[in-house]
Amino acid sequence: MKVLVFGSLNIDLIFSVDHMVSPGETISSSSLIKSAGGKGANQAAALAKAGMSVYMAGKIGQDGTFLLSLLQSYGVNTDRVVRYEGATGQAIIQLDKTKQNAIVLFSGGNAQITVDEIQSTLGEFNRGDLIVLQNEIVHVKKIIETAKDRDLTVCLNPSPYDQKIEKLPLDLVNVFFVNEIEGAALAGKNAETPLPQVLDSLVGRFPGAEIILTAGKDGAYYGFKNIREKGSIVDMPVVDTTGAGDTFTGYFIAARNRNMPIDRALEIACKAASFAVSRKGAMEAIPFAAEIF
Ligand code: RIB
Repeated sequence: MKVLVFGSLNIDLIFSVDHMVSPGETISSSSLIKSAGGKGANQAAALAKAGMSVYMAGKIGQDGTFLLSLLQSYGVNTDRVVRYEGATGQAIIQLDKTKQNAIVLFSGGNAQITVDEIQSTLGEFNRGDLIVLQNEIVHVKKIIETAKDRDLTVCLNPSPYDQKIEKLPLDLVNVFFVNEIEGAALAGKNAETPLPQVLDSLVGRFPGAEIILTAGKDGAYYGFKNIREKGSIVDMPVVDTTGAGDTFTGYFIAARNRNMPIDRALEIACKAASFAVSRKGAMEAIPFAAEIF
């Protein structure tokens, strides 16, 4: 089985601040770190660090060369990452003293992916292969439809959640990875709804799909038909939660690929995410297989 991540590559600029800036306010940051990110690239890195053979597709400018070098150093095949004349996607990340973040995205190359690039990339993947998608690039609908035409297993992390998600052919998705906010939105519930209820609603809405609902320090839930499982985090100091969900996604898929049962895969993915939040940054904070399995 080949795994293709068709998604975003971002340059993350992480500003450490006392509190999130308010409208009209100017604040200073105590540090600025430029690091590798983008939900797509982070998930490709997590899959590769977890020991899987991974292909990354997307688009970057010249300023994104270091992202490719880093992905390649983890063993990700980046032949399908296209370069263009403009800028790479960027994420302005405020990391406050409680270790929460707030992110502003500039799409850059993530918005310049073409339908021709989608068709030629997906032409190299076939039945039995798996594609992992997020909501930080253009043409996600086209990618899902083309992937399904080629009989790929489609995993969707509908993040960041916005109105575009409901316009996607969600009935074609085989596996959803959602956090509490995305899960509640997709289930049509409010943020106070107990997560087991959110999970049941998602299973009801998508009866053919596996649902993985991550819940921060409360671990993660799994639902498929009448199967329900729950995993717990490992207690680690929280330094930076950026990329924790991406780490979880990569490790869950890798654990399942090692034929681990659902409950064990949840534990592995929660453990990997716990390690990731104990380190600063996104892609570079993702642990390696030897630390987790
Ligand atoms: O999921 C974390 C990622 O979201 C960051 O790396 C940032 O680039 C944003 O895309």
